[in-house]
Amino acid sequence: MDPSHDSHISADPRPAPRSDRFPALQAGRHPVVEVRDLVKEYGKIRALKGVSLSVQRGEIFGLLGQNGAGKTTMIKILLGIARLTSGEAEMLGEPCGTARVRKQIGYLPEDHRFPDYHSANSLLDFYGSLVEMPRALKQKRIEECLKIVGLTDRQHYKIRTYSKGMKQRLGIAQAMLHSPGLIFLDEPTDGVDPVGRREIRDLLMEMKSQGTTIFVNSHLLGEVELICDRVAILQRGELIREGDIKSLTEKRGYYLVGLAPNQTFPEAEVAALGYEVRAAANRERWEISLREGQSIDPVVDFLRSRQLSLRHLSEKRQSLEDLFLQTVDAAEPGVDRRPGGRQPAR
Ligand SMILES: Nc1ncnc2c1ncn2[C@@H]1O[C@H](COP(=O)(O)OP(=O)(O)OP(=O)(O)O)[C@@H](O)[C@H]1O
Ligand SMILES: [Mg+2]
Repeated sequence: MDPSHDSHISADPRPAPRSDRFPALQAGRHPVVEVRDLVKEYGKIRALKGVSLSVQRGEIFGLLGQNGAGKTTMIKILLGIARLTSGEAEMLGEPCGTARVRKQIGYLPEDHRFPDYHSANSLLDFYGSLVEMPRALKQKRIEECLKIVGLTDRQHYKIRTYSKGMKQRLGIAQAMLHSPGLIFLDEPTDGVDPVGRREIRDLLMEMKSQGTTIFVNSHLLGEVELICDRVAILQRGELIREGDIKSLTEKRGYYLVGLAPNQTFPEAEVAALGYEVRAAANRERWEISLREGQSIDPVVDFLRSRQLSLRHLSEKRQSLEDLFLQTVDAAEPGVDRRPGGRQPAR
């Protein structure tokens, strides 16, 4: 907690105005989730070590991180399932975890286990009753949600007869049943086949277009890249990167350069011009990364001055996976590499 906050508390026992505690409010933005200096300890395990982040209304926000990074812990604290050790967390303008806030949000837990004696229909009916939905509205929403997730035909079968993907879709239907404005999805496409994953992605985009804010935890970086507006990367309880996905993946792009057959790429000379150069996997093309303020033109001029023929020149955007691996590696070089596993991209 910052010193100004402490001094405010000592001068006046009432809580500081929200705009002092949460700077995003001062800046005129309207976060629906705002977390500051969040620490969570489970005994000796420090699952979150002072994380600050915010989620804006209407966006799809992705929380990424390796196993055990603290993603689920973050969601559990926001929902009031786990108690924070220190720091602050607000949702929809109120301290998180109150019944009033919980009623306005949807949640798909990781590894959920719905009672399998229920059918999809009876389970949704039960959850609708828990949030006190009026009967007619509940029936209408059950029908709509089952249709959206493609379970209408199997709605009266017991859950024990469902495949993993069907259970996951049912979980999403459960999370969206009461039309929440904010929805938390912990690994929503876990166990879902490629077609189903695509359908879930489309569904999330559709929900976003209707104004729903979506907070998603995921390992599937390729997917996150396709749907998220902003991402944050957690590593061992610390936030090591946050930003909008476009600028995070565009910033460190590179060029792929190929010469005519039998021509040798002057790797050392291009590197001497100040560029980061490395051979692509098949050694027929070369990857040239641009540093801040660099352009590819001097490389092209240099190759032409050597009478080399350019046969390929394309600009590549860094994928979210590249960024993730680089960021995680830069934060703690080597720590999370597994022997024989994939090495970070650069
Ligand atoms: N109830 C608990 N008791 C003790 N430690 C816990 C508890 N829940 C989580 N942890 C620990 O907190 C850390 C963060 O766990 P968390 O489940 O938040 O990670 P995660 O990022 O969601 O991982 P995954 O990708 O595997 O789901 C881990 O070290 C975990 O062992
Ligand atoms: Mg988790």
